[in-house]
Amino acid sequence: MTSQPVFAHNWLASPHLENPYPLFVEARQTAPIFYSPIFNLWCITRYRDVRAALMDPQRFSSKFLIRTPYTAPPKVIEALNQGYAEEQVLVNEDPPDHSRTRHLVNQAFAPRRIYGLEPQIKAITNRLIDAFIGAGQADVVAELAAPLPLAVLAELIGLPHEDLGQIKRWTEDLIMLTSTESSLERQVAGAQGSVAFQRYLEAQIAERRQTPRDDLLSTLTQFSFENGERWTDSQLISLLISVIFAGHETTTNLIGNLLLQVFGQPGLWQQLQAEPARVPDAIEEALRIDGPIRAMFRVTTEDVALDGATIPAGSQVLLLFGAANRDDEMFAEPDRFDIDRPNKEQHLGFGRGIHFCVGATLARLEARIALTTLAERIPQARLAPDYRPTYLPSLLHRGPQRLHLIWDKA
Ligand code: HEM
Repeated sequence: MTSQPVFAHNWLASPHLENPYPLFVEARQTAPIFYSPIFNLWCITRYRDVRAALMDPQRFSSKFLIRTPYTAPPKVIEALNQGYAEEQVLVNEDPPDHSRTRHLVNQAFAPRRIYGLEPQIKAITNRLIDAFIGAGQADVVAELAAPLPLAVLAELIGLPHEDLGQIKRWTEDLIMLTSTESSLERQVAGAQGSVAFQRYLEAQIAERRQTPRDDLLSTLTQFSFENGERWTDSQLISLLISVIFAGHETTTNLIGNLLLQVFGQPGLWQQLQAEPARVPDAIEEALRIDGPIRAMFRVTTEDVALDGATIPAGSQVLLLFGAANRDDEMFAEPDRFDIDRPNKEQHLGFGRGIHFCVGATLARLEARIALTTLAERIPQARLAPDYRPTYLPSLLHRGPQRLHLIWDKA
């Protein structure tokens, strides 16, 4: 057996959960590519290696399933079998299938459609702020950063606003389904909920096939591939669920991480009020220094020799964007939040290459509107003095669970 660089720390346990970055530096310096016995994963930490893996889908395949719980108990499987099986669409596809799907999805996410949502995003943001502005304090994750992206996704896809509460509960069911911490009853209820969600989407798809409207769902149902084939209901349902997942918690966490960074730098909140044109710079730097997607999976299709290590064929690999984005070979003084950093846009927070985030424009737009509207309407907002961020132990996601702001009541 060949020796392998091992790094046996658990960055999901406190105090690393709250601040994993010192551990990532240690890994990058001592074993830039390492095997983690705790997670049974190979991990890549250097910027140049993570980027190289992203640009090499042939050897670093995306063909793995995120949601399907292979080890689910029989009762859960039984409930899931009442619905559609998870299909590998887009994020779990490799070329040439991925190229075919991505070509169509890019058209559905055309900039015209995304920028056209700006008035609705502003209106939703203002409505959410109206609900808490009189209180003089709020958890802006629960009251703004979480509800905003889901409402925007419903608007984009074309799902009725009045169904939002139910859609939210279904997304929670999906999370419960894959959480090892939930009870069997909760997992079974989660499986039933996820099948109900599929049936709901099936009905929405049928309606759009019959009577198309000006929404993303209609665009997707009308598309056909070069050979005349159309997406099946099952593929469309998997695609919609992955878009809802990919675009929901990520954007919530971007807004949370961004506000934390802004309030953490003396004078920056005031500077951004005076110069709202600098908000996009703050967003890019937040994506670099503490991005909402801290890692993504790949599977090696052959033995890969990289930076002195050999990752065996068939290994699950974690590309640690969180480590790469603070690589001092790429970013000078990487732990410093600096909106003037000249190369901040080079961050890997939205990935790179063929799977580059299809929702990046939308996420940036939502974060910009959320921050500028908050700054306009509650300029005296500040972090509550006893506030400390807490995080969920997730390999992929990173964002504060709560963010407690206070201000003087008008
Ligand atoms: C700040 C928020 C977001 C972050 C940090 C983020 C991050 C990412 C990353 C890192 C990838 C690449 C995955 C890989 O290489 O395997 C990705 C892909 C993707 N994202 Fe996002 N995302 C965000 C928001 C959104 C939104 C709002 C949507 C949709 C409305 C979305 C939809 C997708 C989809 C569909 C893919 C798969 C693209 C493909 O495989 O070709 N994301 N995202």
